[in-house]
Amino acid sequence: MSSSAIEIAGVTKVYPGDNPVTALENIDLSIADGEFAALLGPSGCGKSTLLNLLAGFETVTSGKLQVYGAPVTAPGPQRAVVFQEAALFPWLNVWENVVFGPKVQGLAPEKYEAKARETLKLVGLENFAKHLPVQLSGGMRQRVGIARVLVMEPTLLLMDEPFGALDAQTRLTMQQLLLDVWEGLKKTVVFVTHDIDEAILLADTIYVMSARPGRIATRIPVEVPRPRNLDTLTDVHFNEMKKRIMHEMRADQH
Ligand SMILES: Nc1ncnc2c1ncn2[C@@H]1O[C@H](COP(=O)(O)OP(=O)(O)OP(=O)(O)O)[C@@H](O)[C@H]1O
Ligand SMILES: [Mg+2]
Repeated sequence: MSSSAIEIAGVTKVYPGDNPVTALENIDLSIADGEFAALLGPSGCGKSTLLNLLAGFETVTSGKLQVYGAPVTAPGPQRAVVFQEAALFPWLNVWENVVFGPKVQGLAPEKYEAKARETLKLVGLENFAKHLPVQLSGGMRQRVGIARVLVMEPTLLLMDEPFGALDAQTRLTMQQLLLDVWEGLKKTVVFVTHDIDEAILLADTIYVMSARPGRIATRIPVEVPRPRNLDTLTDVHFNEMKKRIMHEMRADQH
């Protein structure tokens, strides 16, 4: 966790138009290699905008934004994105969805098949390879979405409220799964959420954002030991962190 994965300095993002919107103003952010960072904040504070800048779907209006030392100018396979709804191809089965990326890159099957099998197992879907997305639950579809990006072996995982559309029980299962996967891979993750519990459970560091125009209000290291699991949600460190974050978020509104 020494070198830096993401360097953002003085970044402003204005969406142009008749009524221009300043979505982000003068953001500074430094995220270490291997860090699990959560962006936490109210609706409209610019979380998705920041993620889309990192993904290369949008460009900065001003300021510096670098991923592993290089400015981001376009989307790339090294920066994988998982959205709230897994964008699966409905006509392809689970296996075909997972191997789609490597195939498009022109890799030979022997280069990716073992990895794809391993990744499907990692997300617990090894027995569902032949199923179509429509035959899966929302949580399972989201697991395919995660497998699909992990198979590309990205250096940076960008997740925009990936469990936001799931019911509470499935969300807990997915949080546990992501904890397990992350403990094994220790990839740099930027995870957008407005759920304080989720941010504390998953992240090393929480960046609390404030709205209008969006900026980073506070950086909070999560002092809850790892490995974590769902029992963490009721442990004493967890409650202390939660109290502190709620306090900071409230203070920020004044
Ligand atoms: N493509 C766009 N064009 C114009 N304005 C936009 C665009 N995308 C976002 N905005 C505006 O920028 C601001 C930040 O939006 P953003 O989607 O980044 O917020 P968010 O924190 O992800 O919100 P939520 O929690 O609801 O997903 C909002 O005021 C929004 O209306
Ligand atoms: Mg959003």
